[in-house]
Amino acid sequence: MRLIFLGPPGAGKGTQAVFVKETYGLAHISTGDILRAQVKQETELGKAAKGYMDAGKLVPDDVIIGMIRERLGEEDCAKGFILDGFPRTVPQAVALAELLQSMGRNLTAVICFDAADDLLVERLSGRRTCRNCGAIYNVSFHPPEKENVCDACGGPLMQRDDDREEVIRNRLRVYKEQTAPLIEHYEHEGLLRRFDAGGAPDSLVALVAELAGKDDA
Ligand code: AP5
Repeated sequence: MRLIFLGPPGAGKGTQAVFVKETYGLAHISTGDILRAQVKQETELGKAAKGYMDAGKLVPDDVIIGMIRERLGEEDCAKGFILDGFPRTVPQAVALAELLQSMGRNLTAVICFDAADDLLVERLSGRRTCRNCGAIYNVSFHPPEKENVCDACGGPLMQRDDDREEVIRNRLRVYKEQTAPLIEHYEHEGLLRRFDAGGAPDSLVALVAELAGKDDA
């Protein structure tokens, strides 16, 4: 399967990707995770991206498209992948279509995560992420057993720099202006599947199982 997880910040794309990746043996490609790793390593790309990310703005298309081109060529993508947080603009979607065509591949579906703004702000304000392994928690909805310690690896939990309320509000604005137009774009292509992301964390299971059953790639 080759899936896109499209949706606003805090909708649960990263949380759901872990389950889908493990169940179906797909590569999980999160452009946000790749960028945060670059920031942590203080690479040139990371230094250039940090200002945009901290302000809740999108990193320029050419940077992101170059990153994806490289990543999709890696071996673990052969069996399929989940694109989490990409594409986020129409030019990114056009570049992805060209790239997949050149590889003789197509998309299985674009899953659009829907949730109300107030819920997204609540989720993001309470999100904590493991500094070592990247596991995602939430102080209200999914707390770790021991405060600020990762259940999976024992690493320290941290709050993302862009999970402050004023930055969250800007990310939601940017999503509506620049990314939401992709919903119509993919609906027009017959690839869009909607998902109510306001429910329980495991509610995507049935939809992905249905897509896997139909997938002929
Ligand atoms: P990115 O890392 O992609 O952030 P995002 O899209 O804003 O998405 P999030 O990671 O915030 O949310 P999510 O939907 O994955 O939610 P999660 O599962 O963590 O991008 C960050 C920045 O990088 C961007 O602002 C931009 O600057 C740059 N960037 C990245 N990609 C780019 C691109 N393509 N082009 C340009 N720039 C790009 O869940 C959130 C919280 O809710 C967690 O605490 C979780 O435990 C909880 N939760 C999840 N599901 C549930 C549930 N069902 N019930 C209760 N709680 C839940």
